Amino acid sequence: MSKKLLMIVAPLLFLALGLPSAALSSETAGCLACHTSMKGRIKTAGGAIIELNVDSDRFQSSVHGGLTCTDCHAGFTDNPHGSPSAAVSEPVASLSRKISSKHTVDPVAAAACIKCHEETYQKVLASAHGKNIIEKHQTDGALCVDCHGSPHYIVKAKDPASKIGRAHQVETCGKCHGDIRIIEKYKLQENVMESFKESFHGRKLHLGHTKVPVCASCHNAHDIMTKTDPNSPVFGKNRLVTCGKCHKGANEKFIPAITHQKPGPIPHYTEKALIVLLLSTFAFIVIHVLLEAFSDIRDAIFRKGREE
Ligand code: HEC
Ligand code: HEC
Ligand code: HEC
Ligand code: HEC
Ligand code: HEC
Ligand code: HEC
Ligand code: HEC
Repeated sequence: MSKKLLMIVAPLLFLALGLPSAALSSETAGCLACHTSMKGRIKTAGGAIIELNVDSDRFQSSVHGGLTCTDCHAGFTDNPHGSPSAAVSEPVASLSRKISSKHTVDPVAAAACIKCHEETYQKVLASAHGKNIIEKHQTDGALCVDCHGSPHYIVKAKDPASKIGRAHQVETCGKCHGDIRIIEKYKLQENVMESFKESFHGRKLHLGHTKVPVCASCHNAHDIMTKTDPNSPVFGKNRLVTCGKCHKGANEKFIPAITHQKPGPIPHYTEKALIVLLLSTFAFIVIHVLLEAFSDIRDAIFRKGREE
């Protein structure tokens, strides 16, 4: 179907089906007329790969179900798409320019969260993740949708389906923190995911414990800092407070008990030494048995010789 034809037919089809639901504004219904009936991934004129489908029911049951599409897609109108400069406020427009290398589909929509979540957005921009994009001009750091998932289907953190809830948070951070390309590029500790899973906390989490910490319990969610930043909750003595949230009376002896570091040199070398000891004992036994067998054979041959 040609795009022009689709644009005429889709809304008619939609009206014929008796939709849209009464809860939607007419403008949103207009957008969904096309975007719920269209499916599949396409390449836009700008070169980005997009998923055309927006599931109307899932959108309406998300935390943003009461919003109109243009609350975020402020540059769009439903005829079908207005000029991209329509009615975008200056703070959103200027932020959208700063993050446009990361959000190539509609940077205005990705910046628009700041209208309603200003404090959170400022924290993210000042975090190690935001600086990666704004100051270092890279695209690897996390912005809202990297952690919260599709902007159309965000649910409350308590919802079991939430990407940042207890059930999925480790996996969400792990998309990047378990990615060897990112670990090497930013010289991060390669085993944070592994060491978390192996830690007492990680193992309890796996068993379904509901009070053990997940990543953000120690690192915060939005104002995440590098471990060498004196304001980081995992920097030096700040851990007294961080661990102390759950371990009353945590002291300086307690706080190093769980980190991502590999076990120190003493347990490391003790383990190595034990392996060497075990292997040499085994080798000693084998050599001993072989020598014994060899001497038996030699004795037998010599005895045979003497008997002749
Ligand atoms: C008549 C059908 C139709 C209507 C109505 C419509 N769209 Fe689209 N939309 C499309 C098509 C087709 C594409 C793919 C465009 C392309 O190839 O660039 C698209 C793409 C998009 C994209 C991806 C970014 C881009 O630039 O391509 C966004 C975002 C979007 N639409 C939002 C909206 C919003 C918000 C509304 C309502 C204000 C809306 N659409 C109304 C047909 C429609
Ligand atoms: C809470 C803000 C928000 C709302 C509300 C919203 N969107 Fe989006 N939408 C976004 C963001 C952010 C992106 C991704 C932009 C990017 O990566 O450049 C996006 C992307 C899209 C895309 C492209 C899909 C893709 O694969 O990137 C389409 C199509 C779209 N939106 C349509 C809609 C329609 C239709 C509605 C209304 C039913 C809507 N959006 C409501 C924030 C929103
Ligand atoms: C027009 C205002 C508005 C915009 C724009 C907006 N939000 Fe929201 N958002 C809200 C409201 C209102 C709620 C609370 C809904 C509730 O409590 O039921 C919310 C809730 C949320 C929550 C869930 C919080 C929880 O309880 O766990 C997240 C996450 C969120 N928004 C992220 C975003 C992101 C990401 C964007 C941009 C893509 C965005 N929002 C854009 C108004 C907005
Ligand atoms: C590094 C991952 C990450 C990024 C990036 C991120 N969030 Fe969150 N967000 C979380 C986590 C984790 C929680 C849950 C915090 C909790 O349970 O205390 C959360 C909770 C929220 C909440 C509800 C609770 C609250 O603190 O108000 C809102 C609203 C929200 N985020 C909005 C946003 C917006 C808007 C952006 C982009 C500016 C964003 N988030 C970026 C991980 C992230
Ligand atoms: C019990 C608290 C705690 C939890 C839970 C935790 N961390 Fe950490 N994290 C730390 C501490 C403390 C450090 C400081 C460095 C160290 O001691 O290993 C750190 C450091 C880091 C670093 C920096 C490593 C480097 O190379 O510079 C990253 C990245 C990180 N954590 C990610 C995560 C992720 C992802 C999760 C969830 C899978 C997580 N952390 C869970 C306490 C925690
Ligand atoms: C989209 C990818 C991505 C996601 C998702 C992500 N991060 Fe990161 N994170 C990065 C990158 C890239 C850096 C390094 C930034 C830099 O140094 O420029 C980083 C840095 C960090 C650091 C600082 C490391 C140090 O000490 O230098 C911590 C801590 C961290 N992330 C924790 C988390 C947590 C916790 C989550 C989940 C709630 C998370 N990240 C989700 C990509 C991501
Ligand atoms: C969100 C709460 C929370 C945070 C934050 C937290 N822990 Fe825990 N921790 C727990 C829970 C719950 C258990 C499991 C208790 C049980 O089942 O016996 C636990 C168990 C432990 C254990 C093993 C059992 C014990 O009590 O000795 C150690 C060691 C430990 N945590 C160290 C730390 C350190 C170090 C930090 C800070 C870097 C920290 N924890 C941060 C909740 C937390």
